[in-house]
Amino acid sequence: MKQGKLTALLAEMTLDEKIAQCLQLSPFLFKGAIKNAELTGPLLQEMKLTDAHTENAGSVLGSSSAEDMLSIQEAYLKTNRLGIPLIFMADVIHGYKTVFPIPLALGCSFNREIVQTMAEVSALEATADGHHVTFSPMLDLVRDPRWGRVMESTGEDPFLNSELGKAMVAGYQGETEKLHENYTNLAACVKHFAAYGAAEAGLEYNTVNMSTRELYQNYLPAYDAAIQAGAKLVMTAFNVVDGVPATMNKWLNRDVLRNEMNFNGVLISDWGAVAEVINHGTARNPAEAAQFSMEAGVDMEMMTTCYIHELKDLVTTNKLSESLIDEAVLRILQLKNDLGLFEDPYRGLKEKSRQTDILTTVNRQKSREAGLESAVLLENKQQLLPLSPKTKIALIGPLATSSDILGGWTVYGEEKDAIQVETGLREVFSELITVQTDYTTLTEENKTAIAKAVQASEVVVLALGEKNEWGGEAGSLATIRLPEAQYNLANYVKTLGKPVVTTLFNGRPLEVKELAEVSDALLELWFPGTEAGHVTADLLVGKSNPSGKLSMSFPQTTGQIPVYYNHLQTGRPQTEGNKGERYVSHYLDIPNEPYYPFGYGKSYSAFEWETAELPKQIRLGESVEIKVTVRNKSKVAGKEVIQVYLQDVTASISRPVKELKAFEKIFLQAEEEKTVSLELTSEAFSFYNSKLEKIQEPGLHRIFVGTSSVEVDTFELEVGEI
Ligand code: BGC
Ligand code: BGC
Repeated sequence: MKQGKLTALLAEMTLDEKIAQCLQLSPFLFKGAIKNAELTGPLLQEMKLTDAHTENAGSVLGSSSAEDMLSIQEAYLKTNRLGIPLIFMADVIHGYKTVFPIPLALGCSFNREIVQTMAEVSALEATADGHHVTFSPMLDLVRDPRWGRVMESTGEDPFLNSELGKAMVAGYQGETEKLHENYTNLAACVKHFAAYGAAEAGLEYNTVNMSTRELYQNYLPAYDAAIQAGAKLVMTAFNVVDGVPATMNKWLNRDVLRNEMNFNGVLISDWGAVAEVINHGTARNPAEAAQFSMEAGVDMEMMTTCYIHELKDLVTTNKLSESLIDEAVLRILQLKNDLGLFEDPYRGLKEKSRQTDILTTVNRQKSREAGLESAVLLENKQQLLPLSPKTKIALIGPLATSSDILGGWTVYGEEKDAIQVETGLREVFSELITVQTDYTTLTEENKTAIAKAVQASEVVVLALGEKNEWGGEAGSLATIRLPEAQYNLANYVKTLGKPVVTTLFNGRPLEVKELAEVSDALLELWFPGTEAGHVTADLLVGKSNPSGKLSMSFPQTTGQIPVYYNHLQTGRPQTEGNKGERYVSHYLDIPNEPYYPFGYGKSYSAFEWETAELPKQIRLGESVEIKVTVRNKSKVAGKEVIQVYLQDVTASISRPVKELKAFEKIFLQAEEEKTVSLELTSEAFSFYNSKLEKIQEPGLHRIFVGTSSVEVDTFELEVGEI
């Protein structure tokens, strides 16, 4: 449909119809829904929704299948006066039926293509089931692993998050201009705007408190990158930003999002977030909640009814200009048009079922590859790994035969399709004894069975970790430990004298010190998704070589949180030279450093790298080219991630000790050598000063080149005035 036609359509709509466009509801509240839940009647009553409302509502959240979409859309179009189709949105966060590793794990892949592929497969499968929009990418920067939703983020670094956010948008949307004809692509929704990941103390839905400069410097860039990459929607956050709930924050949504970031797409509230501004204490009642959110530029209200019940009165009593509603509705119509819904409200599914696109061997293979690149080898003492397939294995632990390995925000993937660890291991190891234990208890009976199994085997593989429900939304923990039974299990197994390989399945950085100490090898697999068992087996036998690098620091202990690599320097930093002195910044009981730092991860290969001579001085605005020669000294092919960090040593405001500015993952055959070239442009040198201007300043800088945030070569660079 041409732009002019959309405006004409808007002009035909009554105020009631326009307001209804701004409402998003669960599928079962619509006529024609396949799953017409029993509570539909009472819930509609409770929400005070009439047929007129549901027959004109703009959008559906989380429908269950293609059948559901077809049936709801068909019933809807029979009664919708102007024939404006519904738009179907869903949480497709790390895969659809074929589940990929959780986003925190994907962050560890440091691989843009892997992440883009995840999004492509998600779009292919989700569109086959009738979805139009995904509520992804989630680009909240995270520094507190107590927060359950760290699993849903790509980690603690603004640059990594930006790069992977762009890759996700590219994967979901394909060629953005062709969304109207490419029915295998989804529109992407960037969330949660803004700074939801900074909830104080890692407590879910808690207050966020940070300076505006910090917001611009570290929290906004990833959302911005995805928006510039063409993401069609943005979702507000539950939290306050500088005291004002994000959902009614005019400065945030109008000045920053619309004006500075030039975002023209649909801004949708998070679930219930419009009504929740009343709980925040910034609106007196649903009418004010509706008014303030609409004034702030929120186009669509998810799952609460402030707009549908209040906007009309606000307009007729002249408290709110109808033009604001017109703008919102036009953006919603535009989105529907961008997806081709006016031409075909079923996006091809009426003529032809695409169910054969779902959970295919090819999709599974892509998920497996993503799992392999996302796992992080944390320890490998005496090169215990990889193991020969002939090794007699005792597989022990709560995750041995668990299907709870898909990870949080798996709305459509099913456990029955997941490959368990034991299943995967059986395919490669001919001799395997399994002892399944509970997540939270270790019994004497278990111990007897374990002792027997270990005695009959050569190597122990422990499969430890979290239940999915211990993380994700509303999955905050005050202490990021596994249940004590799992540490006890590891300690007990250690006493039996065989080498121990610990595999970890979890959604957040954990206290792993005790596990690292008693394990000969420690492999962080996160929640790898549908192919979990195959991924684990491939890595253990070296069919694949670990290449993941941590996207989030692992604290020594919970009390060290927040600990992240790109922190500021203090006035009294602890250094190698002053360790042991009292009046320097340090803890009495633990080291300052995290247990495992950002960017860290081992390989079965052995890599060496050498950085070619760098300039000692450049002018403002000039770029620096960094040439790194990487050598694989081993007989094992593998991948390494070359990472470039920058520090502005003498700036007008204190700047982080280092910040990731470039990375490249490269593949090297056995004993191969390659040279990669990375660039630091003036963008990499720029930051927000105290006037919130993004500038580059002259002065002393340090460039760090290496394979983690701590294994680096250091170079000094003077940046001079032109
Ligand atoms: C979450 C969002 C999600 C939405 C829809 C909210 O509770 O915060 O991330 O997209 O629900 O399910
Ligand atoms: C919560 C949402 C959540 C949804 C998941 C609701 O009850 O309020 O925040 O996303 O459940 O289905």
